[in-house]
Amino acid sequence: MSDRPKLSLHDPGVRLTRGPLMQFADDPIACMKRLNRDHGDLAVLEENDQRLVFVFSPELNREVLSNTQVFESRFFAVRGNRNSAQRRVTSGLLSQNGAEHRDARRMMKDVFAKKILPGYHQTICQIARDLTDNWNAGDACDLNSEMVQFMLKMTAALLFGVDDAAFAYRLGALIDRWVHRNHEIGLGALVSSPQFAEGYDDLLEQAEELEQSVREMFQSHRSIQHDRLNILSLLFQAQQSQEKLTDNQLTGHATLLFAAAHLTTAHTFSWTLFLLSQHPDVLQKLQTELSTNVSAFTPTLEELDRLPYLDAVIKESMRVLPASSYSQRIAVQPTSLGPVRMNPGTPVIFSQYITHHRPDLYASADCFMPERWATITPSAYEYLPFGAGPRMCIGAPLAMAEIRTALTIMLKRFNFQIQPMSTINGHVISTMLGPTSSIPATLLPCDQLPVSVPVFGSVHNLVQLPDMTREISIAA
Ligand code: HEM
Repeated sequence: MSDRPKLSLHDPGVRLTRGPLMQFADDPIACMKRLNRDHGDLAVLEENDQRLVFVFSPELNREVLSNTQVFESRFFAVRGNRNSAQRRVTSGLLSQNGAEHRDARRMMKDVFAKKILPGYHQTICQIARDLTDNWNAGDACDLNSEMVQFMLKMTAALLFGVDDAAFAYRLGALIDRWVHRNHEIGLGALVSSPQFAEGYDDLLEQAEELEQSVREMFQSHRSIQHDRLNILSLLFQAQQSQEKLTDNQLTGHATLLFAAAHLTTAHTFSWTLFLLSQHPDVLQKLQTELSTNVSAFTPTLEELDRLPYLDAVIKESMRVLPASSYSQRIAVQPTSLGPVRMNPGTPVIFSQYITHHRPDLYASADCFMPERWATITPSAYEYLPFGAGPRMCIGAPLAMAEIRTALTIMLKRFNFQIQPMSTINGHVISTMLGPTSSIPATLLPCDQLPVSVPVFGSVHNLVQLPDMTREISIAA
């Protein structure tokens, strides 16, 4: 494409790999691991006149993530023209920069404030209890699809006050399809390939359908008295005190919030349950903590505050298999990182996955070892499952409340036995690292521990599982 960022003169000392940029699109983690191995903290992947710059160290993460004047967010590469639905549904926080972003974050500060979290406790407990009420010891289930469906319902309830599961699945399906299309075409902004242009009309149609659905949900939300706290009610309240906040802007915020919230959290649940099931010693310790400190099936807020090992398990799961595996910024001024000079328009990629697997920061970095959290306190740029700096995830406290509460409710009743010899694949789709296969499991009563079993699949490329599974072939 002719409007690609032009390369600077060849910089001395640049750690450059020449090769097809599609290798990053096809398997971002494998590509970043190679670049990190070959070039260290800073790497450039270059093809013809296009380059992607990669940063892998805490220091460079800080440089890129804290300097919002130079490195802007362009999450949605295809914004659509001014009056299009695509423009409106991509107008949430992730597309905003500068004063516009600062003002929107300020407006949402109260909506996501920590002091509001207790107001969501009842809804989180109710939806997690509904899930476990449908489970029976001895039943087979697919942890991946269970967690995705669970999080669609949870997100629709917490964000929009919607109790209708059919609506949640429909909106979730629309958003997922649209996010995938954005991702495919968005990679066209990073990686030039004719295949990306093909889906453009389809993307615009999907954006219209999605916008229509969000608008209808706004209408029905306004026509009902909501007795449970939800984020949309708070956004409507904020709208009343801010004349400038239009329904078009709210459509952008609501769409992005749903897209940002449900799959990231679902993947975190799936990976955590999978890792616990394959590490029965860790699970046993966690079950002891839960039975000592949580008296009923549903935890109180006070009890949730007394679960340090649960916190370590979640932190460790989000370290070793972070649902957000990388993200990007675009340099908007001529600038440099170390010896790499960049023209405006150059994409810069940072990666939670690679940072979290650095052996100089985390001993046995590929292993799941919650005990490590008793002795380490990494900085915000060494451990960043929710990002870091001014654009850090605004929903992080809510996500953590959901994960801590719902995991407790699930594990107070059940453990999970992974089916031996199943194939568990994990891959990055639209920056999110999630299971891309089923995770077949059998439900066990909570007093029966599972055993660690051999599994196949690309999960072995992502995390080191206990000894018995290490030998199993690495077939994606
Ligand atoms: C485990 C669950 C979650 C993970 C791992 C996660 C991860 C992230 C990360 C890494 C970022 C920063 C991206 C960047 O710097 O480019 C981010 C931003 C964001 N997240 Fe989350 N997130 C989660 C849950 C949520 C939830 C529950 C919500 C809303 C209810 C949410 C809303 C957002 C929004 C609006 C942004 C954009 C912030 C900005 O640009 O100012 N996320 N998230």
